Amino acid sequence: TQVIGLIGAMDEEIELLLQQLDNKDTTVKVGVTYAAGTIHGKQVVVCKSGVGKVNAAVTTQILIDAFGVSKIVFTGVAGALHPELNIGDIVISSSCMQHDMDVTPLGFAKGVIPYQEVSDFPADQGLITIAEEACKELADGHYIVGKVLSGDQFIASRDTVQMLYSELNGACAEMEGAAVAQVCHMNAVPYVVIRSMSDKADGSAHVNFPEFTVKASKRSHEIVNHMLSRL
Ligand code: ADE
Repeated sequence: TQVIGLIGAMDEEIELLLQQLDNKDTTVKVGVTYAAGTIHGKQVVVCKSGVGKVNAAVTTQILIDAFGVSKIVFTGVAGALHPELNIGDIVISSSCMQHDMDVTPLGFAKGVIPYQEVSDFPADQGLITIAEEACKELADGHYIVGKVLSGDQFIASRDTVQMLYSELNGACAEMEGAAVAQVCHMNAVPYVVIRSMSDKADGSAHVNFPEFTVKASKRSHEIVNHMLSRL
């Protein structure tokens, strides 16, 4: 039977999944707790990677090697880049790319990993379709399928938003997706990232980030929960 890996970066992002987990069995590896069990009768492993690309990469490889997951879904919050996105809206990853990969002094385009065929890692079309169906069936589900940009930076300026949107065509900015995507690509494991917007990445996030993070995490969880019943 297939096992689905479910990752969030922060407690708020996995809390609701953990509450749903039946037959819970936890294991700690390299400081991260992996909670195996079932949701809607599906075998899953839920974990909190911690923030940033390194944490996300290590966690993803462990899900694949130690838990044999055959699909990975990332759930959480992000800063909106696309002007049509409001707080709470959903981005389903068409692909993920590292916006802080910058070897432009050697002539590589921004975001491109040198000497490597792929830098913009496509998400799995089957998972994208199931996520879209979930968004359509849930009442207030405004969503877009777009490029998720990841970097070890909390984006908090209009200028950066403008640059990431116009130069790299990003729909939203977060700090883990592209690391999960790259590791999944290296292992030929299908993935999708689901993100609900907690802020507009414009520098106003500090005012209400904790509150909007809880709300947005709920939205992202609703989508993932709905997806799990279809996987
Ligand atoms: N996660 C949520 N909001 C974010 C932002 N503005 N930048 C990076 N990661 C985020």
